[in-house]
Amino acid sequence: MLLNKTPLYRIAIFASGTGSNADKIISYFKSSDSISIALIVSNNREAGVLHIANKNNIPTLILEKEKFFLKDVYLPVFESYKINFIVLAGFLWKIPLNLIKAFPQKIINIHPALLPAYGGKGMYGMHVHEAVIAHKEKQSGITIHYVDELYDHGKIIFQEKCAVDKNETPASLATKIHRLEYAHFAPQIEKLLLFK
Ligand code: GAR
Repeated sequence: MLLNKTPLYRIAIFASGTGSNADKIISYFKSSDSISIALIVSNNREAGVLHIANKNNIPTLILEKEKFFLKDVYLPVFESYKINFIVLAGFLWKIPLNLIKAFPQKIINIHPALLPAYGGKGMYGMHVHEAVIAHKEKQSGITIHYVDELYDHGKIIFQEKCAVDKNETPASLATKIHRLEYAHFAPQIEKLLLFK
């Protein structure tokens, strides 16, 4: 009997910056027969995530703003790579409605706080941690959620908390949050796609 070696899921990871989450996800699924990271997408030509893609021989796509927000321009590209799931890992542009409609319940995002708190426009990266500390929160955490047409709004899939200590700084909180992201993002993707 011939074994079907084509992965069930071909994921595009969208990232705007360093891409340390993308790096962890790529490593986690490296030897998976069911899930492959087939494309790295960025809006930023200088993004560190592009080096990570090159290092791992994963094709890349740089988005142009006008085209991205113009109906359906990139859909044929995603189709050509047979992308059937999208993961946002530090991607800063809002996802246009046409893409959400083309990938219904198939786009997820990670947010570095406990949504619905500290989400929305302008709430990304360090801005989130600064706001959490300014409001003297006792805890923060991560949220993995489906993407809908509003910022940081879709149905929540997973959350994990961490303490915000007395002397916490935005940088130390960012480190804690990244640790949580590295531990949970890839396993949650696997659970969602394969074990649901
Ligand atoms: C991550 O902490 C992610 O949660 C956050 O950006 C960071 C990207 O880090 N995303 C947002 O703030 C989206 N609103 P990375 O580039 O090292 O993976």
